[in-house]
Amino acid sequence: MDSIWIEGGQAAGECLRGDVEADVAVVGAGITGVAAALRLAAAGRRVVVLDARRAGAGNTGRSTGNLYATVSSGLAKLRGKWNDADATLAVVARARAIDWIEQTARELGIDCAFRRVPLHQCVLDGASQELGMLRDEHEAARALGLGAAWGQQVDGWPLRPAAVHTLPGQAHFNPWRFVSGAVAALRRQGVPVYEHSRVIDIDADAGVVTTPEGRVRAGHVLLATHTPMGINLLQTKMEVYREYGVAAPLEGRGPSDASVWVRDGKWSLRTHEADGLRWLVIVGGKHKTGEGGERGDGWYDALRAWGREHLGLRGYSHAWSAQQYASADGLPYIGRSGHGRVLVATGMGADGLVWGAVAGEVVDTLVRGPEGDDDPLARLLTPRRLAPLKSAKSTLKENATVARHMLGDRIEARRDDAGPDDVPRGGGRLLKIDGEVRAVHRTEGGELIALSPVCPHMKCYVKWNGADGTWDCPCHGSRFDVEGRVIEGPSLEDLQRLG
Ligand code: FES
Repeated sequence: MDSIWIEGGQAAGECLRGDVEADVAVVGAGITGVAAALRLAAAGRRVVVLDARRAGAGNTGRSTGNLYATVSSGLAKLRGKWNDADATLAVVARARAIDWIEQTARELGIDCAFRRVPLHQCVLDGASQELGMLRDEHEAARALGLGAAWGQQVDGWPLRPAAVHTLPGQAHFNPWRFVSGAVAALRRQGVPVYEHSRVIDIDADAGVVTTPEGRVRAGHVLLATHTPMGINLLQTKMEVYREYGVAAPLEGRGPSDASVWVRDGKWSLRTHEADGLRWLVIVGGKHKTGEGGERGDGWYDALRAWGREHLGLRGYSHAWSAQQYASADGLPYIGRSGHGRVLVATGMGADGLVWGAVAGEVVDTLVRGPEGDDDPLARLLTPRRLAPLKSAKSTLKENATVARHMLGDRIEARRDDAGPDDVPRGGGRLLKIDGEVRAVHRTEGGELIALSPVCPHMKCYVKWNGADGTWDCPCHGSRFDVEGRVIEGPSLEDLQRLG
């Protein structure tokens, strides 16, 4: 089972072969990459887009497809870290980005099921401490100029909430269809979008991006890769999470079109309609990357069980997971990275679809020239910002987590006396073999595949992800398949195969 959004059937684009030149090389063809590429191309820039796999098949194609001006960590928290003028600037930029997605889909004729819907945030248990937090959230939304309503019902849904905070006029869409349509439009405009072109090296000073079979030399390099590739100081400021999604077809009409966040339980729900069918999507089960354990399908089962109990869902047809990089101060890092010609767009947390579209605007502003750095939105989101008071707690906590994994995981692996018989079919485990620690996976056919457990990025040990059948690095989120190939994250290299 895979994401409800990602469709097969379309021919993949060509991979990059040979040397090309561009004003801007965009690495990553998710929403961030295509939003930037569309704006840059419209401004007359020569743009080249590269993606390691299929355009949109990374975290964009595994998102909720929800579009909202608020932020999922909460406006009340945002106001606690930033003044109201800055928080308003962020919220207004997000609302403008939703308008841009709507307008772009209409102008390019992209059939991405874009719909304006309300976003309901609710608390089911009246005794939950989330109730007071929901009230704070409602007040924060109103203070920042978002028209918000307070009530006790999620209209058209079979939920019995204690309280509901509603933002009207938000939206949802099919993110894969939007990106696929945008890529087709870019190609029609003469912008090359190379797929299956994994970047293996970046020369930040020269502006040269290298793939296995080609190179792009560019005035600017935008890393629209969710997290910067290679080693970047920003990685020490971000927490990395995984989250799960399931979808089930609805019998009959089902709930009315909306996005719903159930705050006590941390479930994100939405309807989706395509090709005459209606679906219910549930996303939740968030945990730090590398700390999900060997739970196998357990994360998905929890979502399915909640949907059965509360919404009467049956016959789940899709299941998928995605990764998030959360910044330390509640706003993403978008702009010049401090490394040569490289621009980054990262730290978007669970709100990456809208921040990705915002990044397109900011990158377009910055590429126009040095005066772009004075743009208020670019100044707010710059990765060079120093916000020690806003981010100190989170940064310290995350660096302690990385230190714990760097040292503790090594000690733990050396103490473990498990042997090959302890690795089940389809499972994985760190084992000591001839005194050396190995990351060992047993295929469904019974074959053992041994890899080095050392993540090439900064040498943490990877951990088995039982839900997705991958090796995940708990330090900065690099992920590898059972053969050791990089799936995502900052690592530019694969895990070493040892048997
Ligand atoms: Fe940084 Fe693995 S992702 S050490």
